[in-house]
Amino acid sequence: MPGFSAQAHAGIAVIAADASLDAKAAALAQELGLPFLNAHAALTLPGLQALLRVEVDALALQAVASSGQAPGPVSVDFGAGAMRHRRRGGQNELLGKAVGVGKKRGLSVLDATAGLARDSFVLADLGCHLLLTEREPVVGALVAAGLARAMRSPDPWLAEVVSRMRLHRGCATHLLAPQLAGVDVIYLDPMFPERDKSAAVKKEMALFQSLFVRSNAEDDAGALLDWALHCNVARVVVKRPLRAPPLCLQRPSHAIVGKAVRYDVYILRSLGQNA
Ligand SMILES: C[S@@+](CC[C@H](N)C(=O)[O-])C[C@H]1O[C@@H](n2cnc3c(N)ncnc32)[C@H](O)[C@@H]1O
Repeated sequence: MPGFSAQAHAGIAVIAADASLDAKAAALAQELGLPFLNAHAALTLPGLQALLRVEVDALALQAVASSGQAPGPVSVDFGAGAMRHRRRGGQNELLGKAVGVGKKRGLSVLDATAGLARDSFVLADLGCHLLLTEREPVVGALVAAGLARAMRSPDPWLAEVVSRMRLHRGCATHLLAPQLAGVDVIYLDPMFPERDKSAAVKKEMALFQSLFVRSNAEDDAGALLDWALHCNVARVVVKRPLRAPPLCLQRPSHAIVGKAVRYDVYILRSLGQNA
């Protein structure tokens, strides 16, 4: 059983839900450069924070309990009740309005900070074509598993929505010009919400904060905005906490303000206008 090396990343190991999935889990561990633990191995690896669990039709990231209470597993399930519920939320309308749904048929959006792809899914459900980029390999693997599962869904609505979503695992700023050709809008949601005493951070946010947040998050997000504003697109949209200043104090053209979040919209040209 391999342990964590000095370069081991965020303290994540891969396990299989049962022995019949060992080969699949071992292959995923190798692809992600993570240690693979067989199901019977004691969870005593130093620095182990979370397990990436390969199930028959799903992939889930589970925090390892340090003080007896760990948040539940995080996975991407586009068919889950919560995602269906989101469809009817007013937040969707605001996000759609921010990117310009209705201003151009078959709007093409790059979600440069895909995360667990909830916003991407909302936009795809509104009819947009989505290119998603996610630079954390483990998060990318969760999204890839969620997309594959939804594609196999017997629910025609679900399969149709995800058919408009394409995942690119890697940093958005490394995309090449041909990969960006035809993109109308770049959408950024780079920051995990800060811990807030008044509001419990959702379970996945707490886990993601500890595993994936970089120490230079604001500068990093600023560089991403700078990159996006120099791409050949019609608009850039940034999701911000309601009362936060604009990212890097870059004044947007306008903002769409919701109850909990705000979308800062940077108009670079009209959506109907060709580059
Ligand atoms: C706050 S989360 C996004 C949540 C997402 N909007 C959703 O609906 O699930 C931000 C994500 O962006 C990713 N990210 C940040 N900078 C990136 C970049 N330059 N390229 C690709 N992914 C990036 C992070 O790894 C993280 O998973």
